[in-house]
Amino acid sequence: MPRAGEKADSSRMRELFTTVAPRYDFITRAFSYGMDATWKAQLVNESHLKPGSRILDLACGTGDFSRLAEERGCHAVGADLTLRMLEQARLPRRVCADAMRLPFPDGCFDAVFIGYGVRNFPQMEPALDEIRRVLRPQGALATLDFFLPANAVWRRLFVAYLWVQGAFWGLMLHGRPRIYTYIPRSLAEFLSAAEFAGALEAHGFGQVCTRRFAGGGIALHWAVAS
Ligand SMILES: C[S@@+](CC[C@H](N)C(=O)[O-])C[C@H]1O[C@@H](n2cnc3c(N)ncnc32)[C@H](O)[C@@H]1O
Repeated sequence: MPRAGEKADSSRMRELFTTVAPRYDFITRAFSYGMDATWKAQLVNESHLKPGSRILDLACGTGDFSRLAEERGCHAVGADLTLRMLEQARLPRRVCADAMRLPFPDGCFDAVFIGYGVRNFPQMEPALDEIRRVLRPQGALATLDFFLPANAVWRRLFVAYLWVQGAFWGLMLHGRPRIYTYIPRSLAEFLSAAEFAGALEAHGFGQVCTRRFAGGGIALHWAVAS
């Protein structure tokens, strides 16, 4: 499992999510005080998906975005690095794949959704290039993730709060306080929501819209592939 200052690689990520998979849905609801479902519904509703659209739910975990897209008449494929997360997902179309090397042809998706995934990719820039490759021109990217709040005081408080909450749930659910502190650890090396919007623009995405929650600690982004 990655420690502070150490960039996560794919094998460490797989090991971590193999351990947390059976508790993942519970911990996501607990960490967000139930807001996770609302954020995900907003991300999908405001993407204005047309029935029949081809959707990639990347780093799908237990498949929430796939289910929301299917409810709107779309055809979703869930892709994730961790087999045990995919097993929990029970989706009709799922594939074990690394975001850095997606097993899909160019331009084959109308939209890509990513929930709490980008922060965990070993390198963000090649993953963004890969996502743009599999999107058709003018296809949509929509993401939900943790970000570093821009305000320095709130940033320290927010990250400290995630440490305490992560340690509490890690101890309660696994007897291992460090297991969920991967969230503040990965966040420490990540970006603010505004910086992520800039990175999207630098990697060939336009019309970038951002909505922040929790003082910028959580954000939704929508963008269009050029
Ligand atoms: C925090 S979970 C998010 C699950 C789900 N998207 C959600 O919104 O609840 C992060 C997921 O990213 C996956 N993941 C991490 N690195 C990945 C990579 N390089 N490629 C594909 N999936 C990855 C993990 O296996 C894990 O299932």
